[in-house]
Amino acid sequence: MESQVQAKQIRVAVCGGKGKMGREVVKTVAQDPALDLAGVVDPSASDETVNAFFGVDAAPELLFDCSLQDMLAREKPDVCVDFTNPEVVFANTMAMIEAGCRPVIGTTGLTAQQLETIDAALRAKSLGGLVVPNFAIGAVLMMKFAQEAAKYFDHAEIIELHHNKKADAPSGTALKTAELMRESQARFGRTNAPETEIIAGARGAEGPADIHIHSVRLPGFIAHQEVILGSPGQILTIRHDSMDRNCFMPGVALAVKKSMDLTGLVYGLEHIL
Ligand SMILES: NC(=O)c1ccc[n+]([C@@H]2O[C@H](COP(=O)([O-])OP(=O)(O)OC[C@H]3O[C@@H](n4cnc5c(N)ncnc54)[C@H](O)[C@@H]3O)[C@@H](O)[C@H]2O)c1
Repeated sequence: MESQVQAKQIRVAVCGGKGKMGREVVKTVAQDPALDLAGVVDPSASDETVNAFFGVDAAPELLFDCSLQDMLAREKPDVCVDFTNPEVVFANTMAMIEAGCRPVIGTTGLTAQQLETIDAALRAKSLGGLVVPNFAIGAVLMMKFAQEAAKYFDHAEIIELHHNKKADAPSGTALKTAELMRESQARFGRTNAPETEIIAGARGAEGPADIHIHSVRLPGFIAHQEVILGSPGQILTIRHDSMDRNCFMPGVALAVKKSMDLTGLVYGLEHIL
């Protein structure tokens, strides 16, 4: 007779499951013995089953859902992972919380005010959730190192490089990096000469702490970022490259599992490592 009691699986749904990130998440959830794939939502749904589309072995056999609300009401997942787009992510997140489901949000573009609203809604329901601008451990370390280096350099700029299907600019990672660097130093580039842009935007966007952020969009890139810090006679460059979307998946699985023990919103993977 089986003596060990099987640990309860976490029921996880994926919103945006047919997208570039969503399809990796579906496979990750389906392959993790601690997780149970509860639903896959995408407006570009088809009659094909989830199992057939992804070549996974989820039981029972799942169909795609076009409506997040329908899936939430029917399946009542513990956690829903969202990789959709900046236009829909806030409404999706609020729908998850309303349904008593913990959001794990990878989609970028949420504003500071929206993050506050999400946190309040989670607390009102005694639920936890995460918004993670970058699930790659190397990117989290890049941000941490940039925050540390920002104590010692008065001048810094960020170049982020992504594929040309990315909807928002600058990237959530670049914004989060600049926010962390602002905790080390309030303002960068104070001794720069007065500037005239011959072409508008040539100096990039002025982000948190006046850090200039430059967004490059080209086919061929996935997600890359350089934080360049300068002082007289020296340059420090901190660079991270995501070469494959697999690099985000251990972070996603960790966030899903940790979300079960949280109350309120956690913003950034570094808080749960
Ligand atoms: N946090 C991270 O580590 C990380 C890493 C890579 C990408 N991203 C972000 O993730 C998001 C998705 O990126 P992607 O490359 O997978 O995009 P994608 O365009 O390939 O996929 C988005 C998917 O969402 C679906 N979708 C659109 N509206 C929807 C809705 N209302 N409900 C359900 N599904 C919906 C689309 O049909 C599509 O299949 C972007 O915001 C991107 O910046 C985050």
